[in-house]
Amino acid sequence: MNKDTFTFALLFSFLIFSCAKNTNTNQSNNDIYTKVDSLMSLMTIKEKIGQTIMYSGDWDVTGPVVSSNNMTLLKNGSLGAMLNVYSAKKTKELQKIAVDETRLGIPLLFGYDVIHGFRTIFPINLGHASSWDVEDIENSARIAAEEASSEGLHWTFAPMLDIGRDPRWGRVSEGAGEDVFLTNEIATAYIKGFQGQDLSMHNTILACAKHFVGYGAAQAGRDYHTVNMGEDELRNVYLPPFKAAVDAGVETFMTAFNEINGVPATGNKFIFRDILRDEWGFNGFVVTDYTAINELVPHGFAENEMHAAEIAIKAGIDLDMMSGAYKSYLEKLVHENKISVDLINDACRRILISKFKLGLFDDPYRYSVEERKINTIYKPEFLEAARKSAAMSSVLLKNNDDALPLSKTETIALIGPLVKDKENIIGNWAAAGDRKGKAISIFQGIKSYLNDANILYAKGCDINTNNKSGFKKAISLAKKADKIVLVMGENYHMSGEAASRTNIKIPGIQTELIKALRKEAPSKQIILILMNGRPLDLSEEDSLTDAILETWFPGTSGGYGVADVLFGEYNPSAKLPITFPRSIGQVPIYYNVKNTGRPIPLDNPKEDYKSNYIDSPNTPLYPFGHGLSYTNFEYSDITLSSNKIGVSDTLLVSVNIKNTGNYDGHEVAQLYIHDKVGSITRPVKELKGFEKIFLKKGEIKTVKFKLTSEDLKFFNGIEFTAEAGEFEIAISGTSDFSFMNSFELIR
Ligand code: NOJ
Repeated sequence: MNKDTFTFALLFSFLIFSCAKNTNTNQSNNDIYTKVDSLMSLMTIKEKIGQTIMYSGDWDVTGPVVSSNNMTLLKNGSLGAMLNVYSAKKTKELQKIAVDETRLGIPLLFGYDVIHGFRTIFPINLGHASSWDVEDIENSARIAAEEASSEGLHWTFAPMLDIGRDPRWGRVSEGAGEDVFLTNEIATAYIKGFQGQDLSMHNTILACAKHFVGYGAAQAGRDYHTVNMGEDELRNVYLPPFKAAVDAGVETFMTAFNEINGVPATGNKFIFRDILRDEWGFNGFVVTDYTAINELVPHGFAENEMHAAEIAIKAGIDLDMMSGAYKSYLEKLVHENKISVDLINDACRRILISKFKLGLFDDPYRYSVEERKINTIYKPEFLEAARKSAAMSSVLLKNNDDALPLSKTETIALIGPLVKDKENIIGNWAAAGDRKGKAISIFQGIKSYLNDANILYAKGCDINTNNKSGFKKAISLAKKADKIVLVMGENYHMSGEAASRTNIKIPGIQTELIKALRKEAPSKQIILILMNGRPLDLSEEDSLTDAILETWFPGTSGGYGVADVLFGEYNPSAKLPITFPRSIGQVPIYYNVKNTGRPIPLDNPKEDYKSNYIDSPNTPLYPFGHGLSYTNFEYSDITLSSNKIGVSDTLLVSVNIKNTGNYDGHEVAQLYIHDKVGSITRPVKELKGFEKIFLKKGEIKTVKFKLTSEDLKFFNGIEFTAEAGEFEIAISGTSDFSFMNSFELIR
């Protein structure tokens, strides 16, 4: 048999084998592994390397386009995946080339940043985390997957699971905030939503846990910057959300741009091989972040790109996003005996397994069906869901003298650069969201509740120019109105990737406008509606205004959702997933800090030689877990089933919560513990559970939590363990409370 006949015979047997199984879309993993082995036995080394390469499409007025270089790679079977290409039509066209024109017809994988919605945009992730509503978050990811998959996409580069404790870092907007427990829960929700029950369905997509790991701890909040941390912090704070992602069945991981303890993540064997694969048993594939292999050179970790490719493949990185280093050097590295071909086989195998799981070998065009797209994008129920999420994600930071809710009969002066905005309201990573027509502005939302005559509108100023010419009109309208409602904040470029700020105040002259309004209309209540992608320093605004509603960037239906809150149609229930400092000087500031050897005495916070500032309190302006409602909730009668538990016991903790105000509403009850003494020190508070409940006015409910020694475990430098001793415990509507109860773990 000559070589060609041999190849043909193998190919034929692969196809027969593959087709014989095609009737069953819910293929077992063993079937898939056998098919992948069979396919790989036909592949040349070049074709295998091809599977490890991903390039981006471009975009022009006609839609997505692919460069001639990438087209050549595609036709040669040297391109396994593409990013930034979507639409049923274009993905089908490219898929046809992969299937019909390459030797083995292996389908392409299309990935995209579907971060908080695809077309129907939900609140930015930090905003949605404020809802503490994991079902709603899962539903938003399900909707995003429905929409994205109807436009040919197989894979989202989400969720971002980086703990964010530094508001200077623009990417805090993309995560779930500062807390490990909350981020773990949200990680699971996103992954379930994107991947669904069965990846072989046409409306489910691969999720990607990113950025592994430590990216949120970038020094000075500067994007891509150095990260140094001990293994205790790594394992207790930064790794757990990724472990939760593995447990939830996430199919892919993305490397972080940063170095961690001197080793860039994209070349870090310890995190990718030792932890991710060996300890956690992850068997999906790992993609680099954009050009991250090349970046090993400027990091000072690789001599050149060939060396970088060697480091990355040895570290267990499977798919090269945009660097070109795998394309140029993997084969050469094998020929020069610098790497074993097994490393390429492993990477290729893992990527092919995902393609099989998606059902792409059964029907490569299943995601690229124009009719499905037409019936899916912007479905009314999706827009309605986004409205609900926007309402659930808006945090009422303050509300003096019941400035909110607004009544439908009062006249408001509606002022600010973001009142009519449709461009920023959908946030930074708004995927294929529409920044013009589709988004509902706050103005439109308010108009749906008020008569035109009751809205006196003035823009007042821009977000970041110094032009004060609009102040005069704003002031004169404010004087005529019953209340002043301001819509201000950041523009969408000010958060997200490469958007670190050293000044986290409201930009430009917006605060000057608030001051002018306060001065000229001193008796009018001022309500500040904020849009922004990070905690801001709101110290001045806090003293100038009567109410502040943090809406983040609330998404496509944001105007309606926010108006629902303003008019009391939805009673605010969101709680901050991240601390708001009093000033940039307090950063990083987060609730579960360590006590230090010199904690400040509660009765004398300014005492000398204690761990305090001489010019500021230690406390934040608005703490983690804080968020007001139009009603009040009273917590009483916390009860513990025992004051001692053993390692295999379950502690039952309950509390009565009563709605003592005048509105029905939701409350997020938060369970915190404090491990008083540890073989390594433990934080002063740790969230270990939460439950969102609905209470009619006057209603009382008992909320119950179960706690076991599993919940008390931490990494003590050697192992994860729950150490015997005393634990304080509390259930509260905010992280700002004092413990009153405790129990003991005995071993
Ligand atoms: C760089 C970002 O860090 C990452 O989060 C994103 O998924 C990729 N670019 C692809 O757009």
